[in-house]
Amino acid sequence: MRILILGATSPIARALAAEFACEDGADLYLAARDTAECERVARDLSVRSERAVYSGAFDASDFNGHPNFVRGVIERLGGLDGIVVAFGTLGDETTAQSDPAAALKTITANFTGAVSIVTLAAERLKAQGHGFIIVLASVAGDRGRAKNYVYGSAKGALTLFAGGLRGRLARSGVHVMTAKLGFVDTRMTYGRQSALTVSPARAAQEIHAKWRRGAEVVYVPSFWRPIMAAIRMVPERFFKRLGF
Ligand SMILES: NC(=O)c1ccc[n+]([C@@H]2O[C@H](COP(=O)([O-])OP(=O)(O)OC[C@H]3O[C@@H](n4cnc5c(N)ncnc54)[C@H](OP(=O)(O)O)[C@@H]3O)[C@@H](O)[C@H]2O)c1
Repeated sequence: MRILILGATSPIARALAAEFACEDGADLYLAARDTAECERVARDLSVRSERAVYSGAFDASDFNGHPNFVRGVIERLGGLDGIVVAFGTLGDETTAQSDPAAALKTITANFTGAVSIVTLAAERLKAQGHGFIIVLASVAGDRGRAKNYVYGSAKGALTLFAGGLRGRLARSGVHVMTAKLGFVDTRMTYGRQSALTVSPARAAQEIHAKWRRGAEVVYVPSFWRPIMAAIRMVPERFFKRLGF
C-alpha cells in the first residue's frame, strides 16, 4: 500500500503515519511546508517501520504546483493507494474576523487547498478503481461559533466537500472517510487544553481503527458525537448570545 500524507509534521499525522507503516506495512510520502522537519520524520519512521518513507514540500496555497506535486508523488511511490489530508491551521482568528486577506488565508489552508489536491488525487484513485481518502475535519465545522467561525466554516465546507465526493465515488471503489476531530493536544491547541483534550497518539489510533472498519463519518474521540448533537440542537437565538 502506498499512501500520501499531507500536513505530515502534525503530531496527529505523524502518529497516523506510524500506524500505516508499522501496522499495515505501507510505504509513505510525507509532505508539508517544513521540508527539513518532514525529512526528519520520514527518516525516523523509515528506520522504525523498515518501510520506504519519502518526504517533500507541499503548500496548500500553491494551486499551480499541485498537479506536478501529485505526479511526482505517484512516481516516487510507484503508485498511489491512499491520501490523508491532515494539513490545516487555526490562523489568527481575531485578525481574520476583520481582515479579508487573513480570513482567505485560513480558508485556503483548510479548505480550498484541500479541494485542489483532493480533486487531483481523487481522479487518479477513481481511474484505477480503488483507494481511499481520509480528511481531518473538525467539530468546529458542525456549527458556526463566534470565537472560531472562519476556521470552522473552512472545516464545515471541507466536511461537505468530502461528503459529496464520497457519494460521487461510492461505486468506483474509492473510500472517503471524514474524521471530525475534537480537541487534540498539538501546537494548534497549545495553551487551550481541557478535560476533553486527547493525545495525538489516541486520536491517530482511533482514526486508523475506524478507517480499517470502513467507517465514513466519524467523531474522534467518539464522545464528540453526542456533544455536537446537543450543541446543534440549541436554538440560534440562544446560541448567538452564548458568545463562545
Ligand atoms: N489539534 C486539534 O485539536 C484539532 C481539532 C480539530 C481538527 N484538527 C485538524 O487536524 C489537522 C492536524 O492539526 P494539528 O492539530 O496536528 O496541527 P499542527 O501541529 O499545527 O499541524 C498542522 C499541519 O498542517 C501543515 N500546514 C499548515 N498550513 C499549511 C499550508 N498552508 N500548506 C501545507 N501544509 C500546511 C503543517 O505543516 P507546515 O507548517 O510545515 O506546512 C502541519 O503539518 C488539521 O487539519 C487540523 O485542522 C486539529
